[in-house]
Amino acid sequence: MLTNQSIGYMDAPVPEGLDLKEAIDKLRKEKRAVILAHYYQTGDLQDIADYVGDSLALARWAAGAKADIIVLCGVHFMGETAKILCPDKKVLVPDLNAGCSLADSCPAPAFAEFVGRHPGHTVISYVNTTAAVKALTDVVVTSTNARQIVESFPEGTPMIFGPDRNLGDYINSVTGRRMLLWDGACHVHEQFSLEKILSLKKRYPDAEVITHPECKRPVIAVSDFVGSTAALLRHTVTSGARRFIVATESGVIHEMRKQSPDKTFIPAPPNDSTCACNVCNFMRLNTLEKLYNCLKFELPEIRVDEEVRRKAVQPIQRMLEISERLGL
Ligand code: 13P
Ligand code: SF4
Repeated sequence: MLTNQSIGYMDAPVPEGLDLKEAIDKLRKEKRAVILAHYYQTGDLQDIADYVGDSLALARWAAGAKADIIVLCGVHFMGETAKILCPDKKVLVPDLNAGCSLADSCPAPAFAEFVGRHPGHTVISYVNTTAAVKALTDVVVTSTNARQIVESFPEGTPMIFGPDRNLGDYINSVTGRRMLLWDGACHVHEQFSLEKILSLKKRYPDAEVITHPECKRPVIAVSDFVGSTAALLRHTVTSGARRFIVATESGVIHEMRKQSPDKTFIPAPPNDSTCACNVCNFMRLNTLEKLYNCLKFELPEIRVDEEVRRKAVQPIQRMLEISERLGL
């Protein structure tokens, strides 16, 4: 994940007494930068961002950005997707170590071999993949549009889905398709404890269990609603329930509380920890200090090999076109 760029910039000391929010705002204006943040970022980063959204929204905003610099407060593949869509812009991620265990579970050479063993299959890849895997893909999907994009292909189309086996299994179950699944997973979403969720549900019988489709099948099976981060957020606003047990990275609860201050949100706990909530340690590497340094030094920058980029942009564009056509 790390490149040979000096990552010392990321941890450069911030001048004492500096009002970070003011300084970030000043730099953003001076440098014509736009700050995009994923819902899994800490509240302070979400609050300072120009736009906060799920993976699909981040890709859309990046594609339409007028700014000279895109700062993506999220993980590496999100920055890479922005760079693939906007090769002429500078794309920065505050901490270049912010990877993704799901993307890492699918190395491009092994995926190429898997694809090669199944000729004639349409290759659907989750956006949580490296540029090299996207370059081997027919259509990229996010958790917001995966179901509809899979269903946009005629029934009986042979398909490969990678890298998330839980999301793939969920899409197969709701569509009746039989896509071949790559055996990858996200370490955060695999960790939710079914027992602890059931005991919370017993304690708060009025609460709805709302779950990201990267979770394992038994957790999905006890859920009242399953969806992407944006869909979960929307659901908490429109549902009549007053209390929610949230089975996804707990950063999203920040925006849920903002949009429904009168409702209660309980993070679903992970298996092997005394901690009550579940966080993505990669996402949490980004901080306000690193965002300041990243704007100040215009580093660390995301770079993508041009040949890989030219191949990878096609399945992303295809996703954006199909999503647009389907009104997603
Ligand atoms: P969303 O597409 O719901 O934003 O999910 C991104 C992600 O990384 C989930 O772990
Ligand atoms: Fe990757 Fe999981 Fe973190 Fe999402 S929550 S960025 S899938 S490691």
